[in-house]
Formats: sequence, C-alpha cells, structure tokens
Amino acid sequence: MTTALSTWMAEEDRFLLPTYEKFPFVLERGEGSYVWDDAGARYLDFYGGHAVAILGHSPARVAAAVADQAKRLMFYSNLAYSKVRAEAARALIELNGQAGAQVFFCNSGAEANENAMRIARTATGRPGIVATEGSFHGRTAGALAATGAAKYRKGVRGLAADTTHMPFGDIDAAKSAITDQTAGVILEPIQSVAGVLEAPYGYLRELDALCRARGALLIVDEVQTGLGRLGARSAAELYGIRPQLSAFAKGLASGIPCGAVLVSADIASKVKPGGLGSTFGGGPVACAAALATLEEISSRKLWENAAAMEALIRGTFTFPAIREIRGKGLLLGLVLDKPSKPVRDGILSRGVLVGGADDPNVIRLLPPLTITADEVAVLREALRASL
Ligand SMILES: Cc1ncc(COP(=O)(O)O)c(C=O)c1O
Repeated sequence: MTTALSTWMAEEDRFLLPTYEKFPFVLERGEGSYVWDDAGARYLDFYGGHAVAILGHSPARVAAAVADQAKRLMFYSNLAYSKVRAEAARALIELNGQAGAQVFFCNSGAEANENAMRIARTATGRPGIVATEGSFHGRTAGALAATGAAKYRKGVRGLAADTTHMPFGDIDAAKSAITDQTAGVILEPIQSVAGVLEAPYGYLRELDALCRARGALLIVDEVQTGLGRLGARSAAELYGIRPQLSAFAKGLASGIPCGAVLVSADIASKVKPGGLGSTFGGGPVACAAALATLEEISSRKLWENAAAMEALIRGTFTFPAIREIRGKGLLLGLVLDKPSKPVRDGILSRGVLVGGADDPNVIRLLPPLTITADEVAVLREALRASL
C-alpha cells in the first residue's frame, strides 16, 4: 500500500527542514474524497488535507476558476481594484449573513488572527488580548502569543506581554480576565487541535454579552470551524453570537493560500487606509479560488451535508472503545479509551487518512463537506477493524 522507499521521500527529507511528522507516502493526485500516492494506492481522506479540502480534492469548479484567472491576470496588488476580489468578499459576507460587514484578505490563518487582533487594538485603543488555555491560533508572533497550548510556545521568548490566557469554557474566569484594558477576546468556537473541545452550552453567548458590556471585541477564530464545517453557515449562526471579528483560512480557497478577516460594520468604519496591508492577500488567483469555493458551499448548502454526516457518524460509530464523540458537523473528535496513534496507523494501513490531536486519545475527523454516507461506512469499517 505505501511506498516506503520512494525516492521523493528521501529527497524531501534531504532538502527540507524536518518540521513535520509525515504520512509514509508521496502523493500525486486527488479527486473528491480520495488522494493517490505514486505507487497508485488510493486513500480516503477524512483528514481533508488538514481541513483544507473543504470541497474535496482539486474540485473541478475551483481548478477551472484558478486556471482561467491565472491566464487572464495572475497578480496585481491591492492598489488596483479587482472584480473577483469584490465578488469573493461579498460571497464571504453573504455566507456569514453579515450585511454591512467588510473583509480584509491575507494569506493564512495565523495572519488572519494577527490582523484581527491588530484591528481590535486599533479600534478600541486598548492593548490587551485575552485568549484561552489550550487554544491554537497559528505560529506568527501575535498568533503564537494568543495560542494557549504551551507546547507550541516552548523555547520562544519575548511574546506579547499584553496577551493573557483564561480557561476555555469558564465564564467566571472570563469575568476576571476581561478588563477595561482588553481590546479583544480571541477563541476557537470549538478548540480543534486541542482535541475537539466544546465549551459548555451558553458559554459563547455569555462571553459575547460580557465582551460587549466591557467594551472588548469578540474575535472568533473560524479557521477550522468556519465555512459550513460545523453544520451551520458559521459559528455565529450556530451559537447565536455576534462577533465583531472572524478569522478564516484553511478551506477558504480550497488550497490556494488565502486568509480573511470578516469585520462587523461598526468596527470596519474605524479602520483607516495604511493600517493594514499584504502584498499577496486578496490576489486575483486566490480570490477566484475563494469565490468558486464559497459559491459551491453556498449553492449546495454543504453545511446541511455536514450536519447529516455528523448524525450518521454519531449513530453508527457505536464501538465500546469510543468513549465519546466530541464536536459538531464535520469537525469531530473520537475519544478512545486508549492512545489513538496505533489505531490511526491501523486505519491508514486500510487506506483511510484521519488526524490526531494534542489529546493523545483523540482521532480527529476533518473531511471534505462533500463526504458521502458510503465513505462514512468505509471509515467505520477501517475503524472497527483497527480498534
Ligand atoms: C484554529 C486555527 N487557527 C489558526 C491556524 C493557523 O493557520 P495557518 O497554518 O494557515 O497559519 C490553525 C491551523 O491549523 C488553526 O487550526
């Protein structure tokens, strides 16, 4: 099944820094929920290329939009107006149901969070950011400072002193942590990398109200949870909250690097020219990919399939070794009664890809929103055999 001796594995190990624990194969192509390695073996991808393949791999509509845009105008900076940039921004605003909001495009999830925190500080004139313990927000300085999971900050000094952390899901802790010096409170609606942790019911709403009462802005990191993955158009819709700032990346452009901050109308009016910038953010190829991706998600209402597949998984993954299924839609954590790594390896040996998490007992599922009932059945069988 795998190509352990593939030349390209050795070549990559030779020429690239050894920063990732890798799957043992060289991928050559992908289509729908599947990817193929250079020996021709096929894998069903419940890891979704790290939550990026939101429409499946190399979706035809996005590939065509990218090719078409690349031939017409591959790049021009934000100094020139662009039809496709305007359309992509409008599509993101519409999917999130936030009329009057405005968008800042960048290139990644870390950058989206950096810019969201920057906007919060500028708009409020306050210095502080409150983040949550166990969170992951990216690896650039500000995003890393906000990241609560200590292992990602290990060995890094000099991170922003005005960023503090509070326990996730604890509204009393939030009441102590958020002060008149807090510009913004940043959190993942569901802590994904940590192990798909959900806050107690009502927490996000109470936090939203608390932020408003204290004049701090609510920043939701929707990098993994957004764009329909939770079985709703947005975390705002699912949890009944009104964040002033939402950060997106991952599946936004189906794999072409693209991040975005969605800024509510009242805060957008406080952003002035020169405050933010990015050479590549909002580039025409990325925006063509984002527009095609967003149109596909919206026109097919893919959040509905995410909700249906969640129900199927919850109803059929009833093995005793699964203690709990956490999460919503197609961001799910299967909590095992033992370490997940050997089970994940067993699943991989049966041709299915799944993810791990900071919690060693968790198998994380982040498949395309287009996944089918038959494909869920294939995962179920691989899981059953591996448990
Ligand atoms: C919730 C969350 N925020 C931010 C990021 C960082 O995104 P990027 O790797 O695109 O910078 C990630 C990446 O996994 C993430 O899961």
